Amino acid sequence: MYNWIVIAFFLALILFILVSIILWSLRNGISPMPTSHKAKCCLLSVLPKMVNGKVYELGSGWGTLLFPIARHYPGRQIVGYETSLLPYWFSRMRRKLGGYPNVEILRKDFFEVAMGDAGLVVCYLYPGAMRRLKDKLRVELPPDAWVVSNTFSVPGWPASRVCEVGDIYYSKVYVYRLNSL
Ligand SMILES: C[S@@+](CC[C@H](N)C(=O)[O-])C[C@H]1O[C@@H](n2cnc3c(N)ncnc32)[C@H](O)[C@@H]1O
Repeated sequence: MYNWIVIAFFLALILFILVSIILWSLRNGISPMPTSHKAKCCLLSVLPKMVNGKVYELGSGWGTLLFPIARHYPGRQIVGYETSLLPYWFSRMRRKLGGYPNVEILRKDFFEVAMGDAGLVVCYLYPGAMRRLKDKLRVELPPDAWVVSNTFSVPGWPASRVCEVGDIYYSKVYVYRLNSL
């Protein structure tokens, strides 16, 4: 009897995990697929040295980029926005266990938040979100802010730097400076 309760508990847990990830992926238009190791190294290597303002990660997922970025800028406030429940909980737990005083993770839709105090915006999204974000970033970000995007470019913006990830998909990381557009 006890065995069946344990099995039922784990099956219900797996079902909950799957349903939660699938529903939030459908809602957000993208799964919480983490940035690959190669893309992360590439992205970290092209981050601007000087950033004036907060660092935002739009769709911070499981924290794959968020925590390395926080270590890269120990003196900056890093804010991750993530709506998908499990990646959000998981990254909050990582934040607690890892002791990252400069990291804040908020369960909010990033299209709904103001980013006027951003010095750097980092993302790994999908083409539709990049099209939607383009005008918001242009209007809200200060002129000296940076945008760094893994894999998907901001349509129509000339990148000030492009890093080739070197993976089988020929992925790139795009770096933009608002006042150079
Ligand atoms: C491809 S994953 C990238 C995760 C992480 N940034 C990384 O590079 O490892 C995209 C993430 O963005 C989140 N997302 C998509 N649209 C969002 C929105 N409007 N507000 C908050 N999070 C969103 C998804 O839930 C997903 O976790």
